[in-house]
Amino acid sequence: MKKPFDPVDEAGKESFPASDPPASNLPDHAPPFELPELPYGYGDLEPVVDTETMKLHHDKHHLAYVEGLNEALAKHPGLRGSSLESLLRDRTKVPEDIRASVHNMGGGHYNHSLFWQCMTPDAGSVGTDLRKAIDAAFGSLDKFQAAFEAAGQKQFGSGWVYLVANSAHSYALEIVTLANQDTPLDVRRVPILGCDVWEHAYYLKYHNRRADWLKAWWQVVDWQAAGARLEDAKWT
Ligand SMILES: [Fe+2]
Repeated sequence: MKKPFDPVDEAGKESFPASDPPASNLPDHAPPFELPELPYGYGDLEPVVDTETMKLHHDKHHLAYVEGLNEALAKHPGLRGSSLESLLRDRTKVPEDIRASVHNMGGGHYNHSLFWQCMTPDAGSVGTDLRKAIDAAFGSLDKFQAAFEAAGQKQFGSGWVYLVANSAHSYALEIVTLANQDTPLDVRRVPILGCDVWEHAYYLKYHNRRADWLKAWWQVVDWQAAGARLEDAKWT
C-alpha cells in the first residue's frame, strides 16, 4: 500500500526557504496533490465509523478538497512545486485570486489526511510520555477527554477540534477548535490529534448527536500515532 500523505511528516520540510526565489519561479514539474489511501479498510472502524460514512468521507469529500486544490493551483502552475505546509503556513505567498481556495481546499486536504491517521482499528492505550504531557496540561486523561468533547461540542457549525502542542511553551498540550477547514498551522500549533466535527463525519450514524460521535471516537483513536507526533515535534 502506498504510504499515505503525512502532513506532520512534512512539518518543517518547506519546499524552499524564505531566502530562495519566489514560488512563481519554481519549475513546474511537481505532480498535483493526490488523495491518500486510507491506512485501513472502509469498514475496519465499524461500528464507530460506519462503512458508508467512511466511503463518502474519503472518496467524495476528501477527494473534492484535493481536486479543488489542484484546480486552484492550475491557475498558477509555478506554485506546484510548493509543499502543502508552505502553502497553508504563509497565505501571503499565495496569489490573491486563489488564496481563499488554497486555504479552504488545501486545509481540507491537510485536515483529512491527518484525520485518517488519527484513527486505527487496533486502538491501544496512551503511551507513557503522552500520558505525562496530558496529565500535566489537563490533570488527567479523563479530564482531557471531557474537555476535548466539550470543545468539539461547542464548535459552532462545521470545523475541527484538535489536541495540539505549543512549540513556544515547551510543547505543552492545548485544545483548540478550528472553523471550517482552518488548520493548526493557522494558530501556529503542532497537531497531535484531530477530530472532524463537520456533519458529514457523523450524520449518517449519529444524526444530530455530535456529542455521541465525540464520545464514541475515543474507541478508534490511534494513541501510538499521537504519541509519535508529539515526540517528532520535539525532535524536528
Ligand atoms: Fe470531513
